[in-house]
Amino acid sequence: MNFVSECLGVNDAGRLTVGGADAALIAREFGTPVYIMDEDQIRKNCRAYTGAMARHYPGKWAVAYASKAFACKQMYRIVNEEGLMTDVASGGELFTALKGGMPPEGIFFHGNNKTEEELRYAIKTGIRRIVANGTEELERVSRVAGETGRTASVSLRLSPGVTVDTHAALQTGKLDSKFGVPVETGAALEAVKLALSFDNIKLEGIHCHLGSPVYQTEPYTEAVDVMTAFMARVRDELGYPCRELNLGGGYAVRYLPGQTVVPVAAYAAVIAGAVKDAAARHGLPLPELVIEPGRGIAADAGITVYTVGSVKAIPGVRTYLSVDGGMTDNPRYMLYGAKYDIILPERALESKTETVALAGRCCESELLGIDMKAPPAAAGDLLAVLNTGAYNYAMASNYNRIPRPPVVMVRGGKPFVAVRRETWEDVCSLDC
Ligand SMILES: Cc1ncc(COP(=O)(O)O)c(C=O)c1O
Repeated sequence: MNFVSECLGVNDAGRLTVGGADAALIAREFGTPVYIMDEDQIRKNCRAYTGAMARHYPGKWAVAYASKAFACKQMYRIVNEEGLMTDVASGGELFTALKGGMPPEGIFFHGNNKTEEELRYAIKTGIRRIVANGTEELERVSRVAGETGRTASVSLRLSPGVTVDTHAALQTGKLDSKFGVPVETGAALEAVKLALSFDNIKLEGIHCHLGSPVYQTEPYTEAVDVMTAFMARVRDELGYPCRELNLGGGYAVRYLPGQTVVPVAAYAAVIAGAVKDAAARHGLPLPELVIEPGRGIAADAGITVYTVGSVKAIPGVRTYLSVDGGMTDNPRYMLYGAKYDIILPERALESKTETVALAGRCCESELLGIDMKAPPAAAGDLLAVLNTGAYNYAMASNYNRIPRPPVVMVRGGKPFVAVRRETWEDVCSLDC
């Protein structure tokens, strides 16, 4: 069977397994919809990145898990145990990371408009880096750090002007973006000058994130060229030795059978090689190289299992399979037209003879996907959407006051609850 993830398999009874555990049994025990995540696959993915960086980059390096992809206390525990740092994009993610035991010195804090409350929290906690998105944020960080009597360790997010081939909403390294200070307009040089003028900021490096998913390696080499040329420029013009280069994430994963993706080792080899060559070309010491994979760590470790509630076949038009979840647990089709593979966990080997639209249960014309290949299904069947480990639970909402599904993790083939199912009571719990 050609699965989109290594952690998926089929047992002797023809049923789907995740990390060796029977997905349908988990769904029957914990109810649907349910996210199932294989902890062993998460760990394998972490090691793929750390192993590749260790093999290919001779300088100092760090892999910081981009936890916006999937955040809960257990996830931070896992990535910390695997020697990764993490990136957080809000006070809530920072709070969860610390609760999950992530040491502050392993945390990068991103975002294009952090609040003062969040900055105060980050500075008091003593996290590794605040990644400042622009000049106002540099000023804010300096002021808040001054008020708390500390020096904030900062990296400056740049927009390198590299456009990647993905959905427009996911292109974040181009000039026309809310993220980062543009290099090509000269604003980045001015921002570095400003950062160096503040007493309460220690500027440690520069950052960029091109977007995601990026299915080619060329945009990363382009970004390395722009970023290292900028490092040489700030050395020459400002006498500033920039020692950390953070190239963000975006490393693609396979969502559909047959889709080809760049192996993790190849991304690392290309990026490490480009940084080494550029450093030599510009006479720069090797910078500390940071990468921030998110989906590359979480996506293929997870599936979502639903129960089919109805099958509406409109002759000559389309067949809608409605399931008991929807855009509330996976908004990515509605946001980006994201594509997924589906399977019936209790009949995993059955041929996909039908083409269906997978409909959610929200009071919208909302789908989880269109023109999806599926075996014939009926009300009561379990249905799994594969590779939903990233940006699904993390993006879940309570639209229509639908409670969020639980996250059941599998370790060594045994399931355990990492995040419990929300209840109607939970959904109402903040109402005054
Ligand atoms: C700053 C930053 N780093 C890393 C990532 C991770 O991207 P991906 O999950 O595609 O690896 C993102 C995603 O939005 C990001 O904004």
